[in-house]
Amino acid sequence: MSNVNLEQIKRSEFSDLPKFEKQDVAKVLDEVVKIVDHMLLKFHGDCFPRACSKDYVYDGVGNLHWDASNNESIWTTSFWTGILWLVYEYTQDEKYKLEAQKHSESFRTRIDNYYNKDEEEAGLNHHDIGFLYSLTTVADYKLTGSKRALETSLMAAKLLAKRYIPQAKILQAWGDMNDENQRGRMIIDCNLNIPLLYFADQFSKDDSYYEMAYNHAKSASQYIIRPDASTFHTFHMDTITGKPRFGSTHQGYSDDSCWARGQAWGIMGFPISYSYTKDKEFLEKAKCLANYFLNRLPKDFVCNWDLIFTADDGQRDTSAAAIAAIGLLELSNALPKEDKDKELYKNACLAIAKSLSEKYLGTNLEGILKSGVYFYHGNLGIEEYLIFGDYFFVELLMRLYKDWNPYW
Ligand code: GLY
Repeated sequence: MSNVNLEQIKRSEFSDLPKFEKQDVAKVLDEVVKIVDHMLLKFHGDCFPRACSKDYVYDGVGNLHWDASNNESIWTTSFWTGILWLVYEYTQDEKYKLEAQKHSESFRTRIDNYYNKDEEEAGLNHHDIGFLYSLTTVADYKLTGSKRALETSLMAAKLLAKRYIPQAKILQAWGDMNDENQRGRMIIDCNLNIPLLYFADQFSKDDSYYEMAYNHAKSASQYIIRPDASTFHTFHMDTITGKPRFGSTHQGYSDDSCWARGQAWGIMGFPISYSYTKDKEFLEKAKCLANYFLNRLPKDFVCNWDLIFTADDGQRDTSAAAIAAIGLLELSNALPKEDKDKELYKNACLAIAKSLSEKYLGTNLEGILKSGVYFYHGNLGIEEYLIFGDYFFVELLMRLYKDWNPYW
């Protein structure tokens, strides 16, 4: 049995199926296609939208890791590629595929740079390799069967595996692996990086990729989740003894608050780990996280940027809402028929998707999902489009539109 609290869900609205049907989803997807066509005029070839817009307009950035002009880490270029793959799947129009395939080559160049010892230039010394390659070359392989995309994906997984610390059974998020002051920090976002390792496992002769991914997910489940089912954003492990040290935040309100996007990475990530491992603990923990999340939503079902805030006029983070909604759907699909909350999670997913579609869809053709918060205390991307919020919203719509095969 889990030692994490499972709150009862308080909102009665989740007992009913919201009216948001396939044809409603298709209408929103048609709007998304118009936006993407407009964005493509500016973002093509090696020019990607930045992580967040400024006054609801994205600037362009190359496929690089560090933007010195903004002092900003760029872990997000793949989300634009992911959007192109999703829109290709929706429209079957080859133009999106051709553009996304060009990105695969750009991501191959980054890996080649790494192996040519230009490691700084490659900017792959962090765990976001998972986000970067799952949505580009893994998606490419899954949709086109490209052998080169598969090869690049496996090269990326090999790099990600270098961040595994066996004593602590985690992948270190950022920073030098040899620096005593940096070693041993995992973050909840990594739940969406480890699918690259599960993917690589399918082509590997031994179980090491699987073990790294599974062990990391188990460690996250054990230490990042607090007993009340809220989550730390980051958690520090002793890399010599393997013992837990302390939790802290990077992007949340405070060390002891619950950053909404972090909770959402958990709600989506643990059911994905379940899909690969069939370890039921991941579903139990995802339920605890989901119920905590659902009980702290404002009236319109779209969370504030940290769950310490529950007011109706609070600062929303729609990216967290979209990620959590995907997790609720994945969770609902994975739960057995007799689970009393199975339908409720599906209803909650639809309620969030409907609200995002009706209230937060971009209106200036420059981005897809309004009202994201990237990094509140860093004063970066507040009440803006976020390219990953845009991506996850489109993924959510595709999951509601058809039986969609995840890139994760
Ligand atoms: N993975 C970083 C973020 O969610 O902002």
